[in-house]
Amino acid sequence: MEPAIRAEGVGRTFNRTLKAVDNVSFTVTPGEAFGFLGPNGAGKTTTVSMLTGNLRPTAGRAVVDGVDVFHHPEAVKRRIGLVFQEQTSDSDLTGRENLELAAALFGVPRRDATATIDGLLDRMQIGDAADRLTKTYSGGMRRRLELAVGIIHSPRVLFLDEPTLGLDPQGRAGFWKYVQELRRDHGMTVFVTTHYLDEADSICDRIAIIDHGRIVATGTPSELKDHLGGDVITIRPAREDRSLEAVLRAVPGVLSVASQDGAFRVKAPRGEELIPPLVNACAHAGIGLAGVSLKRPSLDEVFLEFTGREFREDEGMTATDRAVRVGQVQRAFGRGGR
Ligand SMILES: Nc1ncnc2c1ncn2[C@@H]1O[C@H](COP(=O)(O)OP(=O)(O)O)[C@@H](O)[C@H]1O
Ligand SMILES: [Mg+2]
Repeated sequence: MEPAIRAEGVGRTFNRTLKAVDNVSFTVTPGEAFGFLGPNGAGKTTTVSMLTGNLRPTAGRAVVDGVDVFHHPEAVKRRIGLVFQEQTSDSDLTGRENLELAAALFGVPRRDATATIDGLLDRMQIGDAADRLTKTYSGGMRRRLELAVGIIHSPRVLFLDEPTLGLDPQGRAGFWKYVQELRRDHGMTVFVTTHYLDEADSICDRIAIIDHGRIVATGTPSELKDHLGGDVITIRPAREDRSLEAVLRAVPGVLSVASQDGAFRVKAPRGEELIPPLVNACAHAGIGLAGVSLKRPSLDEVFLEFTGREFREDEGMTATDRAVRVGQVQRAFGRGGR
């Protein structure tokens, strides 16, 4: 099967020296949700801009939905959907007018457009506000409108660049619910960059971690977590029992056992599979248990492991980011000068 996105050695150098994106290669299969995770300045937006035909690369090759992006950027722009973090809809238009404008820009036939727009307004739960100016919308409503604008022409590949930055947890959850529905109903491929590790973890089938313009790790969320050496199972005995540690250590598959405040922390690659044998071993040894819990390492730890840095999610965009992005959007939609 032809991949939905294939990037081969893609790079972009700014001002001759700054390698914003450096030899990036990956493939995304149709229907997959692929996450690009990295700190500010890692090269996420630059990558999205190149893959969506909005920025010329200085190296490499990319094919999106069967089209060579670097030779046919305009053809790619028409085929894909794109949602930026930044507000791109016009706040002096109503929600419906924004969708009508987008439908016209993407050449959606007029007779189909009305039904499509009504359907999207309804689905994104902005139907009641459809005829209000979008400047009166809440953050969550605006994001849902952006998503509707991004998919007005039923793209097979949707690019989302930090689409939920600044939304509260409820707004984020709502936004992803719609994206997941679109994936389920239309088999849409999603390429998403995000600051939110928990989001990447729950939404993405696979994740690439990008740092200083280079991919430092790729895998499913659980593969990346497994790389850290596994889960932690905490076993708390009903009464203090010195023989417990040896009993736990003897169970096949246990990597290590450490005591902590009267409980024992057992490390294992697949914790859920080890819980029954651990509990059985305790029962055999006549040791009563007060509690057993399992903790998977989070992507925060994965990020730290691969980049040597904590992931800070409270950083906003810089002024340069904003200017670059607004310019890109205006060029993409042929609305420069606004
Ligand atoms: N148009 C530009 N001119 C010069 N430098 C740029 C430009 N766009 C991005 N950069 C630089 O490239 C690097 C990657 O930026 P970006 O792709 O926006 O990162 P991210 O989206 O991961 O935060 C940063 O160092 C940024 O300052
Ligand atoms: Mg960015």
